[in-house]
Amino acid sequence: MPPAEPRALGELLEVSQTLASALDIRSALGRVLEHLEQSLGALSATVALREGETDELTVEAAVGAGWQKARRARYKVGEGITGRVVESGRPIVVPEVSREPLFLNRTGVFGTHGKGELSYLCVPVAVGGRTVGALGVAVAHRKDRRYDQDTARLSIVASMLGQAVRVHRLVEAERERLVEENTKLRQELREKYQLASLIGNSRPMQQVYDQVGQVAPSSTTVLLRGESGTGKELVAHAIHYGSPRADKPLIKVSCGALPEPLVESELFGYEPGAFTDARAQKKGRFELADGGTLFLDEVGELSPGTQVKLLRALQEREFERLGGVKPIKVNVRLIAATNKDLEAAVPQGGFREDLYYRLNVFTIYLPPLRERKPDIPLLADHFVEKYAAREGKDVRRIATTAIDMLMSYHWPGNVRELENCIERAVLVCDGGVIHGHHLPPTLQTAEVSGTMPRQSLSAAVAAYEKDMILDALKSARGNRARAARLLDSTERIIGYKVRKYGIDEDRFKA
Ligand SMILES: Nc1ncnc2c1ncn2[C@@H]1O[C@H](COP(=O)(O)OP(=O)(O)OP(=O)(O)O)[C@@H](O)[C@H]1O
Ligand SMILES: [Mg+2]
Repeated sequence: MPPAEPRALGELLEVSQTLASALDIRSALGRVLEHLEQSLGALSATVALREGETDELTVEAAVGAGWQKARRARYKVGEGITGRVVESGRPIVVPEVSREPLFLNRTGVFGTHGKGELSYLCVPVAVGGRTVGALGVAVAHRKDRRYDQDTARLSIVASMLGQAVRVHRLVEAERERLVEENTKLRQELREKYQLASLIGNSRPMQQVYDQVGQVAPSSTTVLLRGESGTGKELVAHAIHYGSPRADKPLIKVSCGALPEPLVESELFGYEPGAFTDARAQKKGRFELADGGTLFLDEVGELSPGTQVKLLRALQEREFERLGGVKPIKVNVRLIAATNKDLEAAVPQGGFREDLYYRLNVFTIYLPPLRERKPDIPLLADHFVEKYAAREGKDVRRIATTAIDMLMSYHWPGNVRELENCIERAVLVCDGGVIHGHHLPPTLQTAEVSGTMPRQSLSAAVAAYEKDMILDALKSARGNRARAARLLDSTERIIGYKVRKYGIDEDRFKA
């Protein structure tokens, strides 16, 4: 057995292990290429794959000389060496590229080796009998090189790559199918119960959606609890529009906003002469909501007198207008909301116990935003889109550092506060990206709380600079040279700043 054999076997084992251990096909391909670079002494290596069913070939992974340029290179099937290999499904060996007009040198590898001649070996990558791409390596030209052996080795590696690509595509297709199915199911649920206006996929919100789904079809009284700004009003809308009463009115009464005598006349209406200003008859909100839903917002603010009248109306489903004697019967569904601790208000006499039990039939608790952090980026993106559209601004996304700030803040004003904060950020934002310094000062101090009482100019500039570098590194997937180009800077400067700010660039690498 020639001495090369055990080495070749070891190499194949390594390649297959690399392919098996990487989760992401690009990094797997990249690592296999790095391996070939070493074992063959290759100057560069690339894998180009067809894009779907098209005739376009894109370089999926590249290492060695000119890899940055290679990563952007494109070919058409039939074009150049790579394109021909994909077209014919057969390897091509070019012993001296300087004599081969078909060698397009798109990656610029020829010329990186001084004046030395290069050889190029390119073999097909097949998936299930169909050529989907090509693996190419450039090596320094040597008269005694055994091209047949090298090509055979490459062909075996290429067949393993083909397997990996096939598995990856199967997994990818399955994942897409699942995501699609999930989106469809969720969409159906949302359409059914008008939940589309509610953003958030966190577990507590899923529970809210489930509860809305359970209660909406009935006429059960619903009590919405939760801190200010958690979305109680949105949920009240979702329940009404998801109920059989959807085409009947949804009438809201803000119990906290009106003085006591007005609340009663608003709720129950009045007859002419009921009081000095009552010239004509006026229907109350209970009557206006007939057949539909009455939404009593801030029900915890009702005065004791109004509580009694409300209780009677709820128990008997009938009431009289102020100054009237004729009882009026209505068919309304009641939704009440409060951010008050009603259980605590009952023993103190602030809220009637009997009314509390009347309202507390089916309670939906809206969790505060700080207890469902995964919803923060979703909500933030949603509001960016909403306000960018309203302001006619091309704001596309939120920088990583700004997201970190949003995530670490405790949001006492919940979703309303987040919405206001993003509205402001969109207004002051001067580019396509929202950065940390576009967020209100409360969030700035939250991030640096305790460490810096007041921000100096240099600290602010440093924060801004760090922001921009993080952002560029993110776009460049952790590649310093590309990040430097994005910032019109040099790789050396970026390297220096990465160390200075203690940036972990690995987290951006694929
Ligand atoms: N899950 C959510 N998705 C999208 N927007 C939301 C969500 N929750 C709340 N909002 C938005 O936040 C703001 C406040 O919500 P809402 O008025 O429903 O809160 P609330 O619980 O009634 O507050 P309060 O007790 O202060 O009346 C609204 O502009 C609403 O559209
Ligand atoms: Mg409200």
